[in-house]
Amino acid sequence: MIERLDALRAEGEHALVGAASAADLEAARVRFLGRKSELTGILRGLKDLPPDERTRVGARANQIRARLESLLAEAESRLQAASRPSSTRDVTLPGRRPPVGHRHLIPSVLRELEEIFRGLGFAVASGPDVEDDWHSFGALNMPKGHPARATTDTFYLRDDVVLRPHTSSVQVRAMEKVKPPLRVISPGRVYRNEAVDATHLFEFHQIEGLYVDENVSMADLKGTLDRFLKQFFGPKTELRFCPSYYPFVEPGAVVDIRCFFCGGKGCGVCGPLSGGWLEVLGAGMVHPNVFKAVGYDPERWTGFAFGAGVERLTMLRHGVPDLRYFFANDVRFLTQF
Ligand code: DAH
Repeated sequence: MIERLDALRAEGEHALVGAASAADLEAARVRFLGRKSELTGILRGLKDLPPDERTRVGARANQIRARLESLLAEAESRLQAASRPSSTRDVTLPGRRPPVGHRHLIPSVLRELEEIFRGLGFAVASGPDVEDDWHSFGALNMPKGHPARATTDTFYLRDDVVLRPHTSSVQVRAMEKVKPPLRVISPGRVYRNEAVDATHLFEFHQIEGLYVDENVSMADLKGTLDRFLKQFFGPKTELRFCPSYYPFVEPGAVVDIRCFFCGGKGCGVCGPLSGGWLEVLGAGMVHPNVFKAVGYDPERWTGFAFGAGVERLTMLRHGVPDLRYFFANDVRFLTQF
């Protein structure tokens, strides 16, 4: 009996190791480990053997069954690995590109705006985000107690120190630094104590523009803004100037463009009450008091200034319905631009 078992072991090992296909392997399994196999028969018949033979044969038969079972498992995984589709190793397939990031929409619009104004002869200036009272308000014809100060909902760090509520402060810094004539823009972050919603953020970007020379007129302002807005929104862009009040300009204006979503009929973007116009920026002729504050002679120098919200310009151009998308960092949004 022991010899027969050893022979079965040799035959079984040979069949399992040599199995070249799943069908071969299954046949070997049935033959050596199946319910009707000789080995199973021997194990079943153990109970009829005399006790000492039962122990010897039983031990050997179980050992052989364990050996064949482990060979079966090995053969199964060997055949499975070999049958995996060969395409996973196809070295001729083109590689998969790792995703590549790109500049965020707001900084790229800021660069674009800088380029537009560089093309019009403007230099780029910057100033601090933490600003003093003088550059934020005082020099801009808003002395202490001026009601217009309240409209910006400024964050105060100390009595005389604020997070700048507008980039108009950089106008003042630019004029303090250089003698006229000058042409500068200053893009940058601004801060206001606003409750955040689809059209308000407490932190956003503005671009300020300032042009000072002799004999600057409202026509220069209109021409400059017309060029800028046509370049940014497209050559068919229509502009309109409406009188408005800002303490640092006189006269002051709000500039609207005709809604390019509906062509001016009134839609979800421009709203039912706007008459089809979208407000894009504030502007005006520099107030003589501002020139006096920086030591420019208001009798000799004239100038215009303007300020626009960068997120607002961007959301209008791209049809983004909610300002919060710009800062939510959701790749589904970011990869669209
Ligand atoms: N500083 C204004 C604001 O934050 C925008 C502005 C309006 C800037 C008129 C100007 C201007 O230079 O002339 O709302």
